[in-house]
Amino acid sequence: LITASCLEHVIHLVQRLQEKLGEKQIHKFSLFKVLRTHILPLTNVAFNKSGSRFITGSYDRTCKLWDTASGEELHSLEGHGNVVYAIAFNNPYGDKIATGSFDKTCKLWSTETGKCFYTFRGHTAEIVCLSFNPQSTLLATGSMDTTAKLWDVEKGEEVATLNGHSAEIIALSFNTTGDRIITGSFDHTVAVWDVGTGRLLHTLIGHRGEISSAQFNWDCSLIVTGSMDKTCMLWDAVTGTHVATLAAHSKEVLDVCFDYTGQRIATASADAVFYVDLCIHILGIFQENPFLIRKGSQSFLT
Ligand SMILES: *[C@@H]1O[C@H](CO)[C@@H](O)[C@H](O)[C@H]1NC(C)=O
Ligand SMILES: *[C@@H]1O[C@H](CO)[C@@H](O)[C@H](O)[C@H]1NC(C)=O
Repeated sequence: LITASCLEHVIHLVQRLQEKLGEKQIHKFSLFKVLRTHILPLTNVAFNKSGSRFITGSYDRTCKLWDTASGEELHSLEGHGNVVYAIAFNNPYGDKIATGSFDKTCKLWSTETGKCFYTFRGHTAEIVCLSFNPQSTLLATGSMDTTAKLWDVEKGEEVATLNGHSAEIIALSFNTTGDRIITGSFDHTVAVWDVGTGRLLHTLIGHRGEISSAQFNWDCSLIVTGSMDKTCMLWDAVTGTHVATLAAHSKEVLDVCFDYTGQRIATASADAVFYVDLCIHILGIFQENPFLIRKGSQSFLT
């Protein structure tokens, strides 16, 4: 595709991209708006893909939809009988919202009208995490009942129960093609499941404490996990084998994530330190000394 006539332009663009990636940017953040309307504490927030809308979940049993620029409340999604703990847009589409509650149900809502399409019943304990698949055809929910469930977004039916953990499921994530899902549990393991059949493919065993977070990298070749055992672990997503252990925190690791280039992993811990580790090679070795970029109160990065 790169013909002689556009070669120079392509080289120029690649060079600019490389410069951009190499820039050490200092972002300055300032307070934009403060919105106060939930009558009890918030549990979670989520943006739609463009950021023009966001949702908040609360102990007050509601989820509210907001216009980001104006701060206007567009809808209050009411109907749950207990804390709304997990919330999500079906990004990149953004026309649906899912809410998971301590009332053991999950609800699917229209972003446009605020009407409830379906209430998904079947879990026997609190729902604490949820995620749409990338195609937005399935919704996955993780529960304190030790199972995760897959629900058909169009039909409003349960598709599969992912049964295999022996304790609460508190994290889940689809791969980018939506054919695999990982679940992190208080049983100290992460499970890799086949979405089509609901079959358990691998159990990632190694952590000595509850899992707090589990994520794929951009090409889904790696999985990173954070645990109450104070470490992070890296795993080969295809074979389920252990690749590396990152032990720098002195307290529980509460959240982990990859950056979009797959070069770095950020970890947030109860020890009040936030590290960014350099991931030198894919499936590779970690730089021994994590590079400290921020010190402050307990920080979560999502
Ligand atoms: C975000 O929400 C607004 C309003 O519903 C919508 O117009 C826009 O397309 C959404 N963006 C994405 C990418 O979800
Ligand atoms: C998961 O996602 C990756 C990257 O998007 C894809 O290559 C892979 O085929 C998917 N499924 C499996 C089985 O890993």
